Amino acid sequence: MIKNRYFDLIDQTFYFPQEGFDIEEGNLIFNGVPLRYLIDKYGTPLKLTYLPKIGMQIKKAKNLFNKARKAIGYKGKYHYCYCTKSSHFSYVLKEVLRHGVELETSSSFDIDLVKKLYQNKWIDKKVIILNNGFKTAGYATKICGLINDGFKGVLPILDNKQELEYYQEQVKGKCSIGIRVATDEEPNFEFYTSRLGINGRDVVEFYKEKLKNNGKFSLKMLHFFVDTGIKDSIYYWGELKKAVKLYCQLKKVCSTLTALNIGGGMPIRNSLGSEFDYNYMVQEIVTLILNACQEEGIPEPDIFTEFGKYTVGESGALIFSVLDQKQQNDAEVWYMIDNSLINTIPDSWSIGERFILLPVNKWQNEYRRVNIGGLSCDNSDYYNSEIHESQVYLPIIDKNDKEPLYLGFFHTGAYQDALSGYGGIKHCLIPAPKHVLIYKDSKGNIVDKLYREEQKPEEMLNILGY
Ligand SMILES: Cc1ncc(COP(=O)(O)O)c(C=O)c1O
Repeated sequence: MIKNRYFDLIDQTFYFPQEGFDIEEGNLIFNGVPLRYLIDKYGTPLKLTYLPKIGMQIKKAKNLFNKARKAIGYKGKYHYCYCTKSSHFSYVLKEVLRHGVELETSSSFDIDLVKKLYQNKWIDKKVIILNNGFKTAGYATKICGLINDGFKGVLPILDNKQELEYYQEQVKGKCSIGIRVATDEEPNFEFYTSRLGINGRDVVEFYKEKLKNNGKFSLKMLHFFVDTGIKDSIYYWGELKKAVKLYCQLKKVCSTLTALNIGGGMPIRNSLGSEFDYNYMVQEIVTLILNACQEEGIPEPDIFTEFGKYTVGESGALIFSVLDQKQQNDAEVWYMIDNSLINTIPDSWSIGERFILLPVNKWQNEYRRVNIGGLSCDNSDYYNSEIHESQVYLPIIDKNDKEPLYLGFFHTGAYQDALSGYGGIKHCLIPAPKHVLIYKDSKGNIVDKLYREEQKPEEMLNILGY
């Protein structure tokens, strides 16, 4: 028998079911949550946040780093910092902080957010707060405000040499400080050296000149971040080696230096075929740092990470209905969904980011190649390729079938809300979807709660001055 049902396509292409995805009674289950139940209750388009995933991710990374440290007798500690810019929502911060993480900020308003966390008693004044980014005067002043207010763990990371002047002028007592070293970009990128950070050639001289004999500061951390993420590639290992070498050089002249911050960039699953070997990568990172330090005869540093996408990415999903199918010529069929892709997953449109795409129902139907069309009038509001192939296959919709085909984009929890301007005006005034939170209640039962209704016309028109 020829098997060309959608289910068979997935079954033959990937390991399925797999972590987070399964089928029950013909419909897709996401992290144990029956999506049909949520669609029946709330309708589509629907934005979901599955909160328990956040804690699972944090525990997994902490375990991997601590296991790798133990296995090779690595004496430095491991610190998991959450990079707030990947999702600033209060429910996310509450959840990450419940799992004993530290924080990384990137702009002035982030410091206002930190103050709220303190008012809510979700953090105390000892929590480590790394301050990254190019500092405006306002951002730097707020950082100094925290330090002067007794937040002992605040650690500004210099993006450039002039930034030090803000702290020199405004910090009242002493403070710890970090330096970000600029990485070289991947060879196929437009620029050679990242605009973020201080050139590696200048770091040791800068330290000797401005920090070594300055009673106010003690240099504690060297930071670097490879923007294309942690990958088993010559480029990534090369950048890590350079950063560790610089750490060793700096440590020889700076006894207060104890921490190496390797930034974010831990990947998430953006296809059912993702094969990233977390265990291997973490072991290799920790071993590389230890070996390099032993060769230079210096103690191994505490390792800091600032995982954003890894922390929240896999907690998010978007569910759409296919409103209609349009056959525009012999070969091209469009599945028109009930929102805009540009508005809801802007990274898919701007930087070609891919997400896991799966139908919720009709897995027993045969499949075909389709293009997914968004509701805006923009010709680039579409989605038609996946990581593993430059095509999208979905169940065929029988024209007489009254039940719509429902589609889900999964692992959309990082960056998409901030980039699309959650609650703001939207391309073609297409309203933002309803937003539902799924979490464990005090008895450990999984429950769902409406976080925000679909945007109303008045909300947008009000912003627009009507
Ligand atoms: C300095 C810094 N740290 C951490 C991150 C988080 O990266 P990711 O979300 O890939 O983990 C970013 C992202 O831009 C960053 O700029």
